[in-house]
Amino acid sequence: MTGQNSRYHNAYAAWQRDPQAFWAEAAREIDWYEPAKTVFDPKAGVYGHWFVGASCNTCHNTLDRHVASGRGAQAALIYDSPVTKAKATFSYAQMLEEVKTLAAVLRDFGVGKGDRVVIYMPLVPEAVFAMLACARLGAVHSVVFGGFAAKELATRIDDAEPKVILSASCGIEPGRVVAYKPLLDEAIRLSSSKPSACLILQRPQAEAALTAGRDHDWAQAVAAARAAGKSADCVPVAATDPLYILYTSGSTGRPKGVVRDNGGHMVALKWSMKNLYGVEPGEVFWAASDVGWVVGHSYIVYGPLLHGATTILYEGKPVGTPDAGAFWRVIAEYNCVTLFTAPTAFRAIRKEDPQAKLLGQYDLSKFRALFLAGERADPDTVKWAEDTLKVPVIDHWWQTETGWAIAGNPLGLGALPVKHGSPTVPMPGYDVQIVDEACHPVAANKMGSIVVRMPLPPGCLPTLWRQDERFVESYLGEFPGYYKTADAGFKDDDGYLFIMGRTDDIINVAGHRLSTGGMEEVLASHPDVAECAVIGIKDAMKGEVPCGFAVLKSGADRSPAEIEKELITLVRDKIGPVAAFKIAITVARLPKTRSGKILRGTMKKIADGDAWTMPATIDDPAILDEIGGALRSHGL
Ligand code: COA
Ligand code: AMP
Repeated sequence: MTGQNSRYHNAYAAWQRDPQAFWAEAAREIDWYEPAKTVFDPKAGVYGHWFVGASCNTCHNTLDRHVASGRGAQAALIYDSPVTKAKATFSYAQMLEEVKTLAAVLRDFGVGKGDRVVIYMPLVPEAVFAMLACARLGAVHSVVFGGFAAKELATRIDDAEPKVILSASCGIEPGRVVAYKPLLDEAIRLSSSKPSACLILQRPQAEAALTAGRDHDWAQAVAAARAAGKSADCVPVAATDPLYILYTSGSTGRPKGVVRDNGGHMVALKWSMKNLYGVEPGEVFWAASDVGWVVGHSYIVYGPLLHGATTILYEGKPVGTPDAGAFWRVIAEYNCVTLFTAPTAFRAIRKEDPQAKLLGQYDLSKFRALFLAGERADPDTVKWAEDTLKVPVIDHWWQTETGWAIAGNPLGLGALPVKHGSPTVPMPGYDVQIVDEACHPVAANKMGSIVVRMPLPPGCLPTLWRQDERFVESYLGEFPGYYKTADAGFKDDDGYLFIMGRTDDIINVAGHRLSTGGMEEVLASHPDVAECAVIGIKDAMKGEVPCGFAVLKSGADRSPAEIEKELITLVRDKIGPVAAFKIAITVARLPKTRSGKILRGTMKKIADGDAWTMPATIDDPAILDEIGGALRSHGL
């Protein structure tokens, strides 16, 4: 990959010359009922809207148009579930049938354009049908990841105010069945907004008792609708209408409802499938993520289906289901051309099978590239993946907010040379700058805050759900004229970006985005905790894991060890197992500046064994030794 023949620079320059013409051209790939009157209207919405005046339907573009153009018999979705030993393939025609019927069921529950529907489900085909059925009706889905606990679900229900909730009786984690229904019931009890109906998919591993008057059996409802010949057509929506809300960690316990529109989202994802991922319609594209995350939204569901590709829904893990050859098995069995996952998955595989001996059992001859995102792709892991798979390993950088890559190595346009540790270059649409606190550009190779010149391209969030002011305050206030990514990093002399870490309290645990502030709120709610701090510390497999420090109130009548256990349980109960909160350490005091600010950064450096200097403003330097001692006494 010398990059000499890459069309990237031409494409980026074309976008710079005339962004509206660039995206208008990309929009030709989408079926519109009405084309846009204005490609970008800077006066609409908080900072402008893409494809103003256009009307469209996202479900039509993912299913109906492909069936109409002859892809009906092609596999749209392949479900492979090592945890249940189930496999199923749905063609585009079958998917359309499923989605039309489910949409009719939702319509009978009163769901229409603009209504919200919460989807709290494991990774089963019905979760995808549910998302597309909402899109079909012009309803706004909000998928909540199954690893979140009742309280997190309740917060999202309260914010989205769904008319209907779609859920399942259980999820299946290796060695454990997770009953979802009690979590759902508790969440509805906790929330002030109550859905008028819940549709529950009964799974044989743990059937749930249904609440009379509110809960409905999914299979029965769909069967009844089908028997009655019910089917819902696509409802035209404005390109600027919301397709979904996806909650993501903010810097407090209150998640941010990232809004995605219909039109810009379709245009950006469709463009990315060909130009970034280098995939052709009809090929098999696999994103090993979950529909609860943005990667699942964009690249399990919408991207591949908008493109007429085949997507894989894998209900399993990279290791243990049954072994570290699981990813190679799926790639070989379905002829996947690309895999998209988080680096942590590869660290897990490498740990189990460092020589990748299991790879020898599988034919990966159709496999062309591995894409990594969700957390920093450490050069060691990238190199191992390259040596093992002998295909390009492409790091790309994005966020829930953007919905697609801010920076990447555009395989479809012709890949540029890879530099380990860098997600390569900004995609067309993104003018990425590295700035100092005063918003002045910093020199090449100097660290700074990473910002994107406004407006954001199609596909990115137009705002936060019903919180325009929070959107402005969180993203647009600090660096006037720019979107704040809250990532820090630098550009090298060739313009390659290096993303080194967050500037806020977000941590990335096994590619999952979590707020340490949210965890601190939970610890602080424990009756014996006087004050606390949660930091992300290095972990060889998950990249980072949370580590909580708590100062107990005087008079706590149980041992610190007991309280530490309670704190771990509390975070699991309030946030969910996905927080992977397994280290709680009670300490006598926390290190602070003289103005009372907890020195989390220094604590992190001590925990990670990194070089650190005594902060000039520290109140009492002895406390840092105490922190070091407490970490050592916990084996860290
Ligand atoms: N429902 C209920 N619980 C869930 C869940 C779900 N959908 N998903 C995860 N959990 C639980 C897990 O069982 C685990 O619980 P435990 O503490 O009792 O073991 C906990 O949440 C943490 O899960 P996870 O982060 O997946 O860790 P893990 O140790 O089970 O697996 C990896 C580690 C690296 C194998 C796994 O994180 C992985 O496959 N990551 C790859 C990529 C990925 O999904 N990235 C996300 C965005 S691209
Ligand atoms: P999420 O919204 O869950 O996708 O998390 C977004 C955050 O994950 C980003 O702001 C980064 O901090 C981090 N991230 C995602 N992809 C990368 C990457 N390729 N390199 C470094 N950090 C990444």
